[in-house]
Parts: sequence; structure tokens; C-alpha cells
Amino acid sequence: MPEDVQHAYAKSGDATRDLEAVISLEQPRINAELRRHTADLPEHARAPAEHLLLSGGKRLRPLLTLLTGRALGCGDESLYTLGAAVEMLHAATLLHDDILDSAPLRRGRTSAHVLFGTVTTVLAGDAMLAKALLLVSSFGDPKLTACVSEAVMRTAEGEIAEFARLRDTSVSREEYVRIITGKTAWMLRASCEIGALLAGAGQPAARAAALFGLEMGIAFQIVDDVLDYYPCEETGKPRGGDLREGKSTPPLLLYLASLPAEQAGRLRADFESGNLAEEDIETLCRAIYEGGYAGQAREPAGIHLAGAAEALAVFPPSPERDLLDKMRFYILTRTV
Ligand code: FPP
Ligand code: MG
Repeated sequence: MPEDVQHAYAKSGDATRDLEAVISLEQPRINAELRRHTADLPEHARAPAEHLLLSGGKRLRPLLTLLTGRALGCGDESLYTLGAAVEMLHAATLLHDDILDSAPLRRGRTSAHVLFGTVTTVLAGDAMLAKALLLVSSFGDPKLTACVSEAVMRTAEGEIAEFARLRDTSVSREEYVRIITGKTAWMLRASCEIGALLAGAGQPAARAAALFGLEMGIAFQIVDDVLDYYPCEETGKPRGGDLREGKSTPPLLLYLASLPAEQAGRLRADFESGNLAEEDIETLCRAIYEGGYAGQAREPAGIHLAGAAEALAVFPPSPERDLLDKMRFYILTRTV
């Protein structure tokens, strides 16, 4: 490991600062790897792919791959290739997701499908998905390929389940967790597990890595759904996307449960029929945020992050394990 990276990996006691230091040190290398593989995409897929990949992003998934692999003894540079593959997969799902959600913006910029059209963007996502799987299969390890392929399948399964329950306020807590486990957590799970597999970890450590990633992924999406109700000044993003898109997530469900029956019935009917006006959405977001329902909805993230800590305890002590532990705090407290 280079000396500057080693320094950033040393403990300072400030989780967010340490993690940001490692993110900014690793990002150039991860981005260079991503640029190299994006250049191999078919001509018309490159523009949407570059638009999304160069629009920022914290690169959490590749970072999970690097840290998990190194924590379990892998000094191999090809961890960056695996990291780039999971980031490319993630980017492919976002290209498709913005079409499904009719989202005009991604990371504060015009979405790829608005700029390049739906057909080109769907196919660019397909090409990125295939390229990422080719990268993983080039390692010649069927376990790696199976791990990532299953994550792709579970992601699609989660997204289908979410769409099946769009504008439906009867979604139970268990169903919600099942949906986000699929659409988000499986990819984080794979990001960690492939690091462990490349490290040649035994079954207990590889299982612990997978569980760590899964719990982190569930917590990540819980917080994501909570931040959707936070004021724009705190997150830098317009709020209320889930209300507009008809997604029944815990902040809304908790708020509905708190209302008198008649008021809840009216809100339910407006949400389910897609009849919420823009000013209703802002008023609702404010009521949900200021009423403490977003804060309440964040609480279960802590339970999943405790599960992540338990999984991490199986890893031998190392600076990378400490950083993975710090990622738990980052996920819980993040505002972006
Ligand atoms: C973001 O959720 C979306 C996902 C985490 C997964 C999207 C998955 C697919 C479209 C299916 C699989 C596609 C491929 C190429 C395998 P969100 O809409 O809640 O978050 P957002 O606010 O960031 O859009
Ligand atoms: Mg979306």
C-alpha cells in the first residue's frame, strides 16, 4: 500500500474525516480504472455511461471491495478491476432506474435518458452490465461470476417488487425490507463478498463479508429513503422524489399511521391516485420531517449496522477493518 494511503488508513478517531481521506485517495485510481473500461464500450453506449460515471458519486461499492479484500489479506491490484466492475454495474442500474422513475435529474445533473434518449440509455445500461460481467468473468473464478450474477438478478427482483407495490400504502415493514434488500443491499453484499473471494478467504470470513455488505446495504437504503424528506439545504437535493414517484417508504407510512383515520384516508387516496400537487408534496415533506417521522424511520438502520458490526468482528484486526467499521457511522449519519 502506498505511504500516503497508509497514513490515511491510520486511526484518527474521526470516522467521517478518515473515510473522506481514504475516499479521496482511492478515487483517482478507481476512476482511472473506470475510464479505461468505459472506453471499451460500444460507441453509442459511451456517452451515457461517461455522463453518469463522471457525474460524481462516492464510489462506496469499489471502496467496500478494496477494504474487504485488503482486510482479508489480498494485496492484489486487481481488486481495482473488481471494484470498477461493481461500480459499472451500479451505474447501469441507475441508468435504467432513472427511466423507470421518469427522473429528470441524477446527482444534480440532467439524467442520461433526457439527454441521449430512452433507447440509447437502456442499451447503454445493457452494455455496461455485460461489460461488468465480462470483467468479473475474466478472473476465471466461477465463484466470483456467480456472486455478481446473483446480485444482478436480486437487484432486478427487488426493483420489480418495488414497482409491483407502487402507490400502495399497505406495504408491510417486512415487504419494505425485502424490496430494499433486493434493489440495493445485494449489490453491496456482492461488493464485499468479491473482495473476500479474491483474498481467498475461507467460508466463515467470506460469509461474514457478505453479511456485512448486506446489512450495510439495507441500512444505506433506509437512510436514503429518510433523506428524501430532508430539506434541500441539508442534502443539496430536491426533496419529495419518493412521494412524486409513488414509493411507500417508512417516513410516509409512519406519518400515515399517526394521523386521525379521516385525514389518513384522504392522504392515502391522493397518494394512491397520484393526485398530490407540488405544494402538497412540499407541505407533506415538511410535516413528515418536522414531525420527527423521518428521524423515527432512520432508527432501524442502527439495528442493521449493529448486525454489520457483528459480521465484521469475524475479520482479523487491521486498519482496513477499522475503516469498514467507520463506514457504518458514515452510512448512519450521512446527509448526502
Ligand atoms: C435506485 O433506487 C435504484 C436501485 C438501487 C436499483 C435499480 C435497479 C434496476 C433498474 C434493475 C436492474 C438493472 C440492471 C441493469 C441490472 P431509488 O430510485 O430509490 O433511488 P434514487 O433516488 O437514487 O433514484
Ligand atoms: Mg430512482
